[in-house]
Amino acid sequence: MARDKITIVGAGNVGAITAYISATKQLGDIVLLDIVKGLAEGKALDIAEASPVQLYDCDAVGTTDWEKTADSNIVIITSGLPRKPGMSRDDLLAKNVQIVKETSGKTAKYSPDSVIIVVCNPLDAMVYTAAKVTGFAKNKIMGMAGALDSARFRYFLAQELGTSVEDIKAVLLGGHGDDMVPLPRFSSVSGIPITELLDEEKIVELVDRTRKGGIEIVNLLSYSAFYAPAAGTVKMAEAILKDKKNVMSCCAYCDSEYNAGGYFVGVPVILGKSGVEKIIELDLNESERTLFEKSLAHVKQLAAQVDKLL
Ligand SMILES: NC(=O)c1ccc[n+]([C@@H]2O[C@H](COP(=O)([O-])OP(=O)(O)OC[C@H]3O[C@@H](n4cnc5c(N)ncnc54)[C@H](O)[C@@H]3O)[C@@H](O)[C@H]2O)c1
Repeated sequence: MARDKITIVGAGNVGAITAYISATKQLGDIVLLDIVKGLAEGKALDIAEASPVQLYDCDAVGTTDWEKTADSNIVIITSGLPRKPGMSRDDLLAKNVQIVKETSGKTAKYSPDSVIIVVCNPLDAMVYTAAKVTGFAKNKIMGMAGALDSARFRYFLAQELGTSVEDIKAVLLGGHGDDMVPLPRFSSVSGIPITELLDEEKIVELVDRTRKGGIEIVNLLSYSAFYAPAAGTVKMAEAILKDKKNVMSCCAYCDSEYNAGGYFVGVPVILGKSGVEKIIELDLNESERTLFEKSLAHVKQLAAQVDKLL
């Protein structure tokens, strides 16, 4: 059987690590594309040269030429400016909307049957941009945020509880911003709700750290995170390429679901071969719903800004 083809647009920090993890997991042949000449070529060659040591069989090529991306099964869009200290994700909107407009348009031209995972920030607005530009079926376009934000929450919980990260499951809703909505009531350690194991004050502290997880790294590095974002992105790509039907939070199109009214926002979904195969609707309590609605209102404001810029 021919290998799947994965295009990663943007060979910067997130794109290159996404390519590397995808290679080590042998998800398929990889095309890494950037506008900076030599960058994608050099990083892809470096990834290919690690293969005899790490023992993976796949092609990894770098390019500036979109023709080489043709007929990809999955296209991961990481081309966009990252934030610097003092910036919010929203500060990136005006620049990144133009980049994502270009790269998602090229994706639609060269890989019209692909599934697209957008990674650029502000995430929910960039998924909205790519959906408008490509006109792809809504199940075939999504954004990576929940996989990262829930990984951060799971890591903080595991550290606090002294358990393996493997045992911790966590669910998040809402936009990929400081108003994201981690859901302690639906988060557990091997099926035991975390609300049984930690007091409310501690949970609030860990939720708050999760919400600020992005800026915590930006303040340390002066640029944004890439290992965990890439790991979250590959988890989504793997679920799709291998038709795993994994349940995870991602930025997906919701209309009647969660009463969202036709916007891309973070919700738990089933990911499989055709992309977002089902949105899982949780019965939220009043405070969870209020937080979700606040986050959704923010997502809608950003989408309105995109409408003006496109
Ligand atoms: N969703 C998330 O959870 C999450 C997490 C981390 C980073 N991000 C976002 O991902 C994006 C990438 O972050 P990074 O740290 O990899 O940035 P980076 O600057 O290291 O890489 C971005 C790359 O995109 C390339 N690029 C720019 N315009 C392009 C175009 N038109 N065509 C092809 N390539 C182009 C640049 O040359 C650069 O190499 C940023 O917007 C960042 O905010 C999102």
